[in-house]
Parts: sequence; structure tokens; C-alpha cells
Amino acid sequence: MSQQKALILEKAKGEFIVSAVPILKPGPGQLSIKVIATALNPVDWKIQAWDFIVQKYPAILGIDIAGDVEEVGDGVQGFSKGDKVFCQGYFSNEMASFQQYTLIPADIVGKIPSNISYAQAATIPLALTTAAIGLLHAQPGGGGLNPTFDPKINFSGQSAIVVGGGTSVGQYAIQLLKFLGYSTIIAYASARHTDMLTSIGATHVIDRAKVPIDSLAESAKNIGSVPITIAYNAVGDKDSRAACTDAIVEGGQIADVDPEAKNDAPENEKRVFPIMGSSHIHREFGRILWKNLPNLLQEGKIVPNQVEKLPNGLAGIDEGLQKMKANKVSGVKLVAFPQETA
Ligand SMILES: NC(=O)c1ccc[n+]([C@@H]2O[C@H](COP(=O)([O-])OP(=O)(O)OC[C@H]3O[C@@H](n4cnc5c(N)ncnc54)[C@H](OP(=O)(O)O)[C@@H]3O)[C@@H](O)[C@H]2O)c1
Repeated sequence: MSQQKALILEKAKGEFIVSAVPILKPGPGQLSIKVIATALNPVDWKIQAWDFIVQKYPAILGIDIAGDVEEVGDGVQGFSKGDKVFCQGYFSNEMASFQQYTLIPADIVGKIPSNISYAQAATIPLALTTAAIGLLHAQPGGGGLNPTFDPKINFSGQSAIVVGGGTSVGQYAIQLLKFLGYSTIIAYASARHTDMLTSIGATHVIDRAKVPIDSLAESAKNIGSVPITIAYNAVGDKDSRAACTDAIVEGGQIADVDPEAKNDAPENEKRVFPIMGSSHIHREFGRILWKNLPNLLQEGKIVPNQVEKLPNGLAGIDEGLQKMKANKVSGVKLVAFPQETA
């Protein structure tokens, strides 16, 4: 069996090392993908630091994949060797992205449109999926705003807020709210992101350096002429959740990136739900998402996050994760290139 390089987390809370592992053949319905670019996500450093989600070590991590189809499994239609594709990996060694080749079910793979690069495509899968499930996917897993990406559905006249608008996930939530037609889209973020956030759809940016989180709801409620019906919480801590709860109207809802999120103030009639941002777990919605996404990108309705390229292939990922852990990544997505591994 041919060999490839992978970034291995040898044991729980252990070190990352680059090592040789076999290249697996795709099973029925799967694609083997040569990983050209992979983005880093907070969950990757959290797994290493906290030892959660992963059941078995040595583990290969990484969720964001952009690359070329290497081999097509039995029964797969619509893909050929060499197609440029992007997709979301999973928490299993065979479907992880911190390696040179990976396997993914073909029904949740998209073709990279001609107007974006591999690196840009790699910023999209986890963060966009998490935003889309929170807003569009049917309840109870999502906000139920438009589970089929129907272009006729429109929330014109309504107001929404994204707390953590500068995060990767928050940037995609803002763009999806724009796609949904919201008239007022408030982002809570650092002022230095204002131009970028307004260019992708935010109508108002509240500077998190000037307005503390416990005053956010009051500031947000003063914007727009109608009450806020949905909050997307891309920060996911208790303070941000409390701000979202105070900012929205009774009967409104809060999509929260914290997998444990719940309504901390059950005396009110506000729906708080945790997002499980996985095309694999929400498979039916994932299929619809991956069918629509290439067109939304091609038409410029969704634009990728800004990219910061990491050097040294797989060996450069650890340093990027430590930078993320130290809160030193701001408004950009770190992207590594597994084929550049020495
Ligand atoms: N549930 C799921 O399935 C799921 C999936 C994906 C991500 N997540 C979680 O979602 C969160 C966001 O992920 P990400 O990849 O989008 O993160 P990210 O882009 O790496 O986050 C970095 C950004 O967070 C901003 N930030 C940090 N604290 C903030 C606060 N209190 N208020 C506003 N902005 C703040 C920083 O803003 P500045 O630029 O101002 O410093 C920085 O730009 C993470 O906790 C992640 O683990 C959950």
C-alpha cells in the first residue's frame, strides 16, 4: 500500500508529529482526495489541549479540505480524477484533513468554483456549515430559516445580530443573513474589521472594545426599527449568550456555537439551541448545502474568509494552532498545504 505523510497526535494531550501512514482506497460512494489546502479551526487545538471528541489515538485531526479527486469509489457519479473539490472532514483518521490524502462520501463534496483558490476554498467547509446549520437548517437542529436554500424566501424588513462577527463562523453567518434578505444585520466585533464586515453584509458594527458585552443588548436594540428576531452567537460563552438573550424579542431564537448551549433564563420564551456544525451528522441538509454552495460562491453571494498561509506543510500546523489558542488570530483563517511537507 502506498504511503503518505500525516500529522499525528500520538496520544491524548500529546505532541503532534509528522509520520508516514497508508493511503487508503475509497470505499463505495467515497472519493479519495489529494489534500492541497486545509484550514485550521479552534476545535483542533481544543482536542489536543482538552482530549475530547476523539475516541482513538493515534489520531489525525483537521476538518477543512480543498484538493483534487485522486480516486473515485464504486457507485460515485459526477466526479472524475483531477476534479478540484472542497468538503468537510470528520473526526476519524480516514476522513481527516491534516494528511496528504483523505476519504469523503461524495454526496457531501462540492466542486471548487473557478473564481476561488484552493486556500480560499479551505476556509469554507466547517465555518460555513456551522453558520448554515444554525440559520437555515430545519429545527430542532437549526434555526429553520430556509432549509432548502430557496431563493424566494426573504426576511426583508427583519433584524438579526451576529455576536463574534469577526470570527470565521461569524463572517459566514453575516453573509447567510444577507442571502436570507435581512434588512438589519448587526455585527459585534473589533472596529478594525468594520470595512470587511460591511463589505460582506453587516449593516452595523458594534465595536467590542467600546461596548462591553453586558451593554451590547442595549446598544443593539437601539439599532433598526424592528426588534431582533434571531441572534447568531459565534463566541459561545455565557456572557455572549446572555447578551444575545437580552437583545432578541420574546419568541426569538439564538443559534449558539457552544455544543452545550441551553436557555440559561428559562423564564423567557426564547429558543436557545446548540449547533452541531457537521455535514456528516446533518447529512440530508449537508447534501443540499454542498449542492448549492458552489453556485453561491461563483455568484459572489458568499465570499471566502481572508487567508493567512502557513509555511512548512503539515509541520507548520502546530505553530498555527498554538497561535489560535493564544488568541493571536484575528479576522483571518490559517491555511496549511499538506503537499508542501518536507
Ligand atoms: N458547534 C460547532 O459545530 C462549531 C463549529 C465551528 C466552530 N465552533 C466554535 O465557534 C467559535 C468560533 O470559531 P471560528 O473558527 O469562527 O473562530 P476564529 O475565527 O478562530 O475566532 C477568532 C476571532 O474571535 C473573535 N473573538 C474572540 N472573542 C470574542 C468576543 N468576546 N467577542 C467578539 N469576537 C470575539 C476575535 O476577534 P478579534 O479579531 O476582535 O480579536 C477573532 O477574530 C469557536 O469557539 C469554535 O470552537 C463551533
